[in-house]
Amino acid sequence: MYIELYEKRWMVLTGVALAVMFLAIVGSVFGAGIQVPGVYGQVNPARLPNTPPFDQPGVRQLGPGRYEATVIAHIWAYSPNEIRVPAGATVTFNLTSRDVIHGFRIEGTNVNTMVIPGQIARVTHTFKKPGTYLFLCHEYCGVGHQNMFGRVIVE
Ligand code: CUA
Repeated sequence: MYIELYEKRWMVLTGVALAVMFLAIVGSVFGAGIQVPGVYGQVNPARLPNTPPFDQPGVRQLGPGRYEATVIAHIWAYSPNEIRVPAGATVTFNLTSRDVIHGFRIEGTNVNTMVIPGQIARVTHTFKKPGTYLFLCHEYCGVGHQNMFGRVIVE
């Protein structure tokens, strides 16, 4: 089979471009610590008060420097809307929504996920520096959307 030189070059170039893009995706997921929001489980939004861990929203310590924060998003607030942890804490957020689709983004971090009713979103971040980290809803969820925020206070 005869292939034109230009055609051959384009084929090689396309292959290289594909490989670079593939490596960029793999590298950003495993190298740069970017977390792909995934479905970690399903939960009935109508039964959150009877479904652990969503029956007790809040922060609990899992071990030295390790915490779990269970947060329910609903129109138009987070429960709880204030999370306190010591500096250096690694916090895994378990999130779900009681009603419509919300978002969860913590400023100054790479924590950014959708919060979908019926699904559990899980994101982890280590808060090295003390300070107040605002988190907010970035999915339009109705007339109170702009008031939907909370804080992670790192002491
Ligand atoms: Cu919740 Cu916008």
